[in-house]
Amino acid sequence: MELNHLIPRLVSSPELHAKWLNSLSMMENTGARKISASENEQLVDEIVLKHAAEEARHAYYLKSQIKKTGYEGCKTYQAHELLAPIESQQYLHALDVAISRYLKRNFNFEGDNLKYAAYLLVTYAIEERADELYPIYEDALKAAQSKISVRMIVVEEQGHLEEMIQQMNVFFGDWKEHGEYAIGIEKKLFNKWVSAIGKSIQEPALP
Ligand SMILES: [Fe+2]
Ligand SMILES: [Fe+2]
Repeated sequence: MELNHLIPRLVSSPELHAKWLNSLSMMENTGARKISASENEQLVDEIVLKHAAEEARHAYYLKSQIKKTGYEGCKTYQAHELLAPIESQQYLHALDVAISRYLKRNFNFEGDNLKYAAYLLVTYAIEERADELYPIYEDALKAAQSKISVRMIVVEEQGHLEEMIQQMNVFFGDWKEHGEYAIGIEKKLFNKWVSAIGKSIQEPALP
């Protein structure tokens, strides 16, 4: 199912919409934690601190919107409170593992260099995706006259993409080939996630 069909269907059901918000919140939080984990204690700079803080705020903001769906629940990130829990949890980790492997193979990076390079490519691919996904979600929210808006996230994710490109220019120089590799892997994992969500909402409810 295409995103622009899937998301309006999720938005139209309080329970599915709550679980969608909760899943996005969980993934934003995983992103924030991964950024923090990749920081060098002494060399971390303003851009990276801002990025970690904003991803953590996205996680909190999405969580705080759940009550507006009218669905009670989704207090935690346990599997039954998420959409496609396995794929939602694997998406970022699998991307991180694949890109770290690519960087080791091509650059022999290790330690902090590997962590920082992986942060750049993983986050770049995710920001490209966020710039596609959140505007579609925002359109669906508007069309449904929802009380929820993710416009603030749309704006901040656009800023993040520009900042990732700046940081990759400094670190890699010519980063295009590496960026394309990251985008290729991300696309596979993202499609897997979307199709798992699509399947999960087609299954008849258990009696
Ligand atoms: Fe985010
Ligand atoms: Fe971001």
